[in-house]
Amino acid sequence: MKPRELKANIYWVGAVDWDRRLFDELIPLPDGTSYNAYLVKGSEKTALIDTVDPLMTNTLINNLNQLGTKEIDYIIANHAEQDHSGSLPQILKLYPNAMVVATPKCKSLLMDLLLIPENRIMIVGDGENLSLGDKTLEFIHAPWVHWPETMLTHIREDRIIFTCDLFGSHFATSDLYATDEATIYEAAKRYYAEIMMPFRKVIQRNLEKIRDLQIDVIAPSHGPLYDKPEFILEAYRDWVYSPPKNIVVLPYISMHGSTEKMVRYFVGALVERGITVKQFNLARTDIGKLAMALVDAATIVIGSPTVLAGPHPNVVYAVYLANALRPKLKFASIIGSYGWGGRMVEQIKGMLSNLEVELLEPVIIKGFPKEEGFEALNRLADEILNKHKERTLT
Ligand code: FEO
Repeated sequence: MKPRELKANIYWVGAVDWDRRLFDELIPLPDGTSYNAYLVKGSEKTALIDTVDPLMTNTLINNLNQLGTKEIDYIIANHAEQDHSGSLPQILKLYPNAMVVATPKCKSLLMDLLLIPENRIMIVGDGENLSLGDKTLEFIHAPWVHWPETMLTHIREDRIIFTCDLFGSHFATSDLYATDEATIYEAAKRYYAEIMMPFRKVIQRNLEKIRDLQIDVIAPSHGPLYDKPEFILEAYRDWVYSPPKNIVVLPYISMHGSTEKMVRYFVGALVERGITVKQFNLARTDIGKLAMALVDAATIVIGSPTVLAGPHPNVVYAVYLANALRPKLKFASIIGSYGWGGRMVEQIKGMLSNLEVELLEPVIIKGFPKEEGFEALNRLADEILNKHKERTLT
């Protein structure tokens, strides 16, 4: 896409990656993504805010050429991850007078990851300003959105904030702004779950830092921009601050039908008690959907058969992810079956160390479930209901 003007002399110059389907060889991208970069032409100096994934450097260069960009004075590196910094080496060659502007930690990462020469990087402190003439860049250090070095760049005169990964969405679109809010809400929530949720408590501090800014436009570096900032700010306040909801997330897998039978029965028991259930068969689930469900859930119940004395490997993968994502979960339990023994429960419990959850009595049965197994599942459903009621979760 061609450059697009957001405000007088501020342009989107990024790249839309319609075809990418995996990020970090881990995160599914069902809707592609974009790498947003921005050119800010002040009356005296010109700044480029972030670059693009190295595979799309030519798109960025074409956009800069279309705007007749002869000189860039500063390249603001809000984040050192390569999807935003990967074009830096080539842009620095094309614009030999440009200086990279970064936090101290970002400087170190850019030197390590991209071999950027130290004398091409200038450090800025938290709250420091850089004048472009009639526009002033204000830098706000915001660690852990998504790495420890991240920062936000605010232009007070134009009431725009460039937030890099924060508030982003992996969503390829020809819309500059988030016009279809229902669709973008889904994409932004998926993105939050996969990228931001592990840093929820730090994000609370970063939201505080920008709370009093007068902002007309939030310009992240993935997905569409927000010309109605309250839409995404309100969503983040819910995801970050609100207590979990009356929801059980149930990732499971079954090999010969015993665990499947337990899951079906248990889901019915939970629903009868007024609890919302989000069930994921790990043989075929989209791991991003599971991450999204964990944003709001109060309880996770993991369903697994016993394989070689432990949980099924797909369950290990899902539990590892849930533990790494650090959702707001308050309770956890395990259901499943075995043929002749094993240490499945102990092994799953040992993988939940990041989660501040109370472990509810697991239901593990021998072979195919029978009457006492169903009764145990009823008791577990009762206990979950009582625990949710005690915390007045809705
Ligand atoms: Fe979009 Fe953390 O990079």
